Amino acid sequence: MRRINAVLSGLGNIGSRFVGVLDRKRDVLQQKYGVDVRLVAAADVSGGAINPDGLDLAQIASLKGQGIAGIGQAGLGILEILQSVNADIFFEATPVNLQTGEPGLSAIRAALKRGMHVVTPNKGPLALAYGELRALARENGVQLRHSGAVFGGLPTVNIGQRDLAGSTILKIEAQANLANSYILWNMGKGMAYKDAVRAAQEQGCCAPDETLDVEGWDAIIKLVILANSVLEIDARIDDVKREGITHLTPEAVAAVKAEGKVLKYVASAVRRDDGSYELSVGPRALEPNHLLVPLGELQMGVAYTSDLYGIIMATIREEEPTPSASSLMRDMLSIYAP
Ligand SMILES: NC(=O)c1ccc[n+]([C@@H]2O[C@H](COP(=O)([O-])OP(=O)(O)OC[C@H]3O[C@@H](n4cnc5c(N)ncnc54)[C@H](OP(=O)(O)O)[C@@H]3O)[C@@H](O)[C@H]2O)c1
Repeated sequence: MRRINAVLSGLGNIGSRFVGVLDRKRDVLQQKYGVDVRLVAAADVSGGAINPDGLDLAQIASLKGQGIAGIGQAGLGILEILQSVNADIFFEATPVNLQTGEPGLSAIRAALKRGMHVVTPNKGPLALAYGELRALARENGVQLRHSGAVFGGLPTVNIGQRDLAGSTILKIEAQANLANSYILWNMGKGMAYKDAVRAAQEQGCCAPDETLDVEGWDAIIKLVILANSVLEIDARIDDVKREGITHLTPEAVAAVKAEGKVLKYVASAVRRDDGSYELSVGPRALEPNHLLVPLGELQMGVAYTSDLYGIIMATIREEEPTPSASSLMRDMLSIYAP
């Protein structure tokens, strides 16, 4: 049995569910994969808790919203924990910050420098500093895994990195943003833009401030991470042609329908003859037989076209965050039981 000492930052939707998954799957992890995972430290905004023998997973999983300081030390921050604890792997699950990447970025840097593998669903540090973090991981002989950052539970990155081995990716097309998908679907039924945004917010697939979704930034960030990790190009946010959906009217949507086409919000990377990729996000009028058309309004999906494997498509309907939270375990197992 291989013992794995883990540290976790962030005990929100993802972090607390992930700890619950580790608890529920303890026997599977031990018997099938030969790993005994101990959570030796965890932190949230309130503070941190350390136990070299392993914290009680069921207790930590139930702390969401209560603050870990209640069972640990108030004000004990993740950077202090990462400097003082001996651990093999760091799970980073704090909120996304697209301006600074913090608090995730500094914590990920610190963990990599201390020789820990890092698993994160947090898009901020990846979108802002992918190249630096990948180089830091290589220098320290550890892995940086982030399958949950691109379409949550859908193994988008894994398919591109692992299952298309040896091929050249010619095209990636994805329904990458649930809010925009749901808004366009409702507008297709005649709803006005503002009402459709409200409906998406009520449904829970759109943040109270919809700007990042409807202006295309969320889709851009996912595409940039995908381009960096799967296409292995040094893509940046500015490299992506961006079109939001704020200008769309029900009449424009109806006109697309009248032409027999379907309006979808699409993120795409298309390989040019010179080997570079054209990256774009925006609403697209698709032919009815397009691969993304059958996807439901609350589904995410990706289609890879490569020179060896034809077209491979994967989709997910994620109604609550357990699949995204489980991606942290998937990434851990791809490191320890590849
Ligand atoms: N939810 C999803 O379905 C989903 C899917 C894919 C990716 N993600 C990504 O996963 C990450 C976590 O998402 P989430 O939904 O779990 O967010 P969340 O519910 O807001 O939880 C974030 C957690 O991080 C804690 N935190 C904030 N600042 C911190 C700091 N400086 N040090 C330590 N902990 C800190 C928060 O503590 P308090 O609660 O005390 O503020 C909370 O426990 C985000 O980057 C998100 O984009 C989420």
